[in-house]
Amino acid sequence: MNTGFDVERIRKDFPILSRGLPGGRPLVYLDSGNSAQKPTSVIETMREHLSSHYANVGRAMHTLGAESTEAYEAARDKVAAFIGAPSRDEIVFTKNASEALNLVAYAFGNPMSEDPRFRIGPGDEIVISEMEHHSNIVPWQLLARRTGVTLRWFSVTDDGRLDLSDLDELVTERTKIVSIVHQSNVLGTVNPVAEVLARARRVGALMMLDASQSVPHKPVDVAALGVDFLAFTGHKAAGPSGIGVLWGRGELLEAMPPFLGGGEMIEAVWMDRSTYAPAPHKFEAGTPPIVEAVGLGAAVDYLSGIGMDAIARHEREITGHALDALGEVPGLRVIGPENLDDRGGTVSFTLEGIHPHDVGQILDDAFGVAVRVGHHCARPLHLRFGIPATTRASFYLYTTPAEIDALVRGLHHVRKVFA
Ligand SMILES: Cc1ncc(COP(=O)(O)O)c(C=O)c1O
Repeated sequence: MNTGFDVERIRKDFPILSRGLPGGRPLVYLDSGNSAQKPTSVIETMREHLSSHYANVGRAMHTLGAESTEAYEAARDKVAAFIGAPSRDEIVFTKNASEALNLVAYAFGNPMSEDPRFRIGPGDEIVISEMEHHSNIVPWQLLARRTGVTLRWFSVTDDGRLDLSDLDELVTERTKIVSIVHQSNVLGTVNPVAEVLARARRVGALMMLDASQSVPHKPVDVAALGVDFLAFTGHKAAGPSGIGVLWGRGELLEAMPPFLGGGEMIEAVWMDRSTYAPAPHKFEAGTPPIVEAVGLGAAVDYLSGIGMDAIARHEREITGHALDALGEVPGLRVIGPENLDDRGGTVSFTLEGIHPHDVGQILDDAFGVAVRVGHHCARPLHLRFGIPATTRASFYLYTTPAEIDALVRGLHHVRKVFA
């Protein structure tokens, strides 16, 4: 298989990929959907920042403070360009995608939100889907408990697609926001954003995308998507953990109340009240994840240097190979789309009669193949398919066909062990 993509050269950028495992097993890392590995440029940029430029940002009137602030704010510029944000002020650094999703949910029904789009109460509705990560379920459940708003959701078809057959009944004049995943972390499904957005716009609802699994893997342009909010997390995009991104349309961020209170998010403070800094700083209380943001800036530089189109093409080839090869394993059932249409490089499956935990254990012990097992923080989706858990292989720009073959060899071995 030739993807026209020099994956061997790319692998050299990721030092961890050349380490071996105890017993001489090679490392076959197929868990990038959980957290991706980091290229040398990210590691070195963070090391360089810590060893030569580090100081707190935004408040120190000295040379290191200025250098550190410049690097932190440059990371914001890079992220804004990476996702096509019309303004750098629309990029809020959070600690992960979960925090970004919570931040938006917190604005609804908040007595400080004067904008009618964020006023919410009994009779109003929020729409999510059955294929969400818990990070895009629980914040809305918490909102529902606080405000009495009703939580509704799209169901999922047998082949792992969003079921839009009741789109018009689900998304109505009562809907305040539709928040769905762009690409499922279990099924790999890429959702039809335009169709859902058109309905949301028709009824005056806002729309948010959880893009944790799409931004790292393919070109994502918020202006072209046309949604209102988008969240993703740095550690799945070849960046460090501890940094996430909320993009929101500028006028909405201005209308939203602060999420956390503290230093740097204020304009002026008296003993009984405060006024707040404009977005994005209004949402970045306290000392932010400085080195992590700088590392994320290096990660998006790295990914852009390779090209998101090229990365998406490579992952498509790898996923096609994986779907073909896994299809040959007796008793294996893919949970999610079995063709390449509108799907990304995450393949979850069950192996008849064998618990995913056993599958994962044997793959690791015998073949050095790292996969994730369990419900992948998407328990309702697993309940929908009537299974407690799946084994998930997830790919990235450094995944090779040989690694897929190692996975498949491992699965044949697992079947033999349990025969
Ligand atoms: C689709 C999706 N949303 C949200 C998250 C949460 O990311 P984080 O744990 O970095 O907040 C994940 C992580 O697995 C994910 O896959």
